Amino acid sequence: MNGPVDQLGRGMRDLRISLTDRCNFRCRYCMPVEVFGPGYRFLPREDLLSFEEIVRLTGLLVPLGIGKVRLTGGEPLLRRGVEDLVAMLAAIDGVQDIALTTNGVLLAHHAEALALAGLSRVTVSLDALDPEIFARMNGVGAKVDRVLAGIRTAMAFGLKTKVNAVIQRGVNEGEILPLARWAKAEGIDLRYIEYMDVGETNGWKLGEVVPAAELLEILGTEFDLVPREPAYRGEVAAHWSHRDGTCEIGVIASVTRPFCRDCQRLRLSADGKLFTCLFAADGHDVRGLLRGGVGDDVVRAAVAGIWTGRRDRYSEERGEVVRPKAEMSYLGG
Ligand code: GTP
Ligand code: 5AD
Ligand code: SF4
Ligand code: SF4
Repeated sequence: MNGPVDQLGRGMRDLRISLTDRCNFRCRYCMPVEVFGPGYRFLPREDLLSFEEIVRLTGLLVPLGIGKVRLTGGEPLLRRGVEDLVAMLAAIDGVQDIALTTNGVLLAHHAEALALAGLSRVTVSLDALDPEIFARMNGVGAKVDRVLAGIRTAMAFGLKTKVNAVIQRGVNEGEILPLARWAKAEGIDLRYIEYMDVGETNGWKLGEVVPAAELLEILGTEFDLVPREPAYRGEVAAHWSHRDGTCEIGVIASVTRPFCRDCQRLRLSADGKLFTCLFAADGHDVRGLLRGGVGDDVVRAAVAGIWTGRRDRYSEERGEVVRPKAEMSYLGG
């Protein structure tokens, strides 16, 4: 295996880059409006890594094992010039796959430019088709039709498109089957995500998680699903195909079936901190190194050292340890 291996034998493959901690939604499970209201202090512009800094760091990490890059946020399409960044990342030798996670509201405007810039894939979050449930969940009254238009436009421009839906008991359980029917009719791969205890602000309770097993039982009442093998080591979702071959359904069961054992993901926050786990309290600052005039070898060795010391397995330890956690809107989804 190329590159450093962490304390649990895991390599570094997947870099998730947060471009901003801002979002035009206020999903209750991520950025509740009582906390992320008008007085909330987001990162100041000068704290954000520039595109040049992001591209330099990404290029440096390729020899350590990074081949997949995902742009995330907050909402990454709020970062001006995101298409330029995609083109810069696509030009890095060894970056084979560039994906973007978005809430989809601005996607129709950006899809063509993103596709031309070399984006490989988009993942759109869509928690409900019912306009009222959708508006309530996103916290700002955003219209589901705009997201559906974003998805359609992305597909029309040839972007491989997936949909993620977070299911929360008592909030959008009733949307499980409508979402699956819609995805099948559109031929879109859909993944359900168990509601997670990320960050400190969403008031997570175990009782609000709809476990993967229950989700599958519900889907089984209407669909004939065949399990499929993981596409690659460390794939976060378990997948099923519709027997008629139309598309796939996945479940990301971070709570009931943790997948830390194969976790090869490194996260970069918008202000240049590397997080080795989605549930970490804090990251390792690399912005200081990037702005400090040190050579490529020094930066690369520092990241390799961070990775070598890594022993994160939060989802497997859930309940055993209690410690503060950074917000997902800040460190990237
Ligand atoms: P591809 O397979 O490359 O499409 O991406 P992926 O499987 O990593 O999926 P994606 O990036 O769309 O992640 C979907 C969701 O899974 C995220 O938004 C998180 O909610 C959750 N997730 C992704 N990575 C992790 C992880 O490392 N730990 C945990 N606990 N959850 C994760
Ligand atoms: N639990 C599960 N998924 C979450 N996401 C954001 N917060 C949570 C949470 N608490 C999802 C978003 C989006 C992706 C980036 O992460 O809905 O699909
Ligand atoms: Fe924004 Fe995504 Fe968080 Fe919703 S889940 S508030 S769309 S970053
Ligand atoms: Fe990786 Fe941490 Fe998620 Fe486990 S909880 S899969 S170590 S990011």
